[in-house]
Amino acid sequence: MPAHIRPARLEDMPAISRISLLTGRAGQSAEDDHRIGGLPGSVWAEPYVAAELKPDARTFAFVLVNDDAPDLAVGYIVGTADTRAYERVAEERWWPALRTRHPLTSVDDRALMDADRQHVRLLHKPDLAPQNVIEFSPAHVHISLLPSHQRQGWGHRLLDAAVSHLRGEGLDALHLVVNPRNNQAKQFYLKVGFERLPTDERGYEYYGLRSSRFTSFRQ
Ligand SMILES: CC(C)(COP(=O)(O)OP(=O)(O)OC[C@H]1O[C@@H](n2cnc3c(N)ncnc32)[C@H](O)[C@@H]1OP(=O)(O)O)[C@@H](O)C(=O)NCCC(=O)NCCS
Repeated sequence: MPAHIRPARLEDMPAISRISLLTGRAGQSAEDDHRIGGLPGSVWAEPYVAAELKPDARTFAFVLVNDDAPDLAVGYIVGTADTRAYERVAEERWWPALRTRHPLTSVDDRALMDADRQHVRLLHKPDLAPQNVIEFSPAHVHISLLPSHQRQGWGHRLLDAAVSHLRGEGLDALHLVVNPRNNQAKQFYLKVGFERLPTDERGYEYYGLRSSRFTSFRQ
């Protein structure tokens, strides 16, 4: 299916949130894991599109759209050139409204599911990147494609867009976090040139990409 990549717009947020939910269980659909389906997107993707964080958080976002439906994102890569700035600015301008909407006491709500509770805890106490990961690169990304667009080179091309953007910002590397159970993503990362970064963090794995090790996508 002919498709292309373009910068994300505010109107893409609902589609981005949906993609985040449909790939939220270590790359598989997390639709059955949530009562509040918007939570994964509001934690992992939407803040990078939000106008209120730009430009101080140095965020950026690209979406993949089909040529015949250019307003409907089917994949995205979002990130920041400066993870510490992002963490600071999100603390001021992104998490407060979500904390009001989802108070910590809501984790006791019997109607919620475990994945909802985990995300509510996260938005009250977001994970900060380990210092050695920041030393590898201050830039980080999150990438996700709907199953209909996986394994066709689009992930590689979205990464290409992020690497080019970051080169323009003077950065020659990036890092990302991955659920250790997400073997497909890990195979993709290793294939396109990432290396596993050593950390003491439990529950997550971190991977880093030097742009010198990255080969741009060729048709
Ligand atoms: C992981 C993901 C971003 C990869 O993007 P993609 O478009 O599917 O991958 P590409 O087609 O660009 O793959 C490039 C190469 O990586 C390798 N690769 C990609 N997916 C792979 C998989 N599932 N298993 C093994 N190798 C894989 C292959 O070598 C592939 O080249 P080939 O298809 O010519 O063999 C995408 O599948 C995705 O969004 N998955 C669901 C969400 C997710 O897990 N996001 C990551 C969260 S950390």
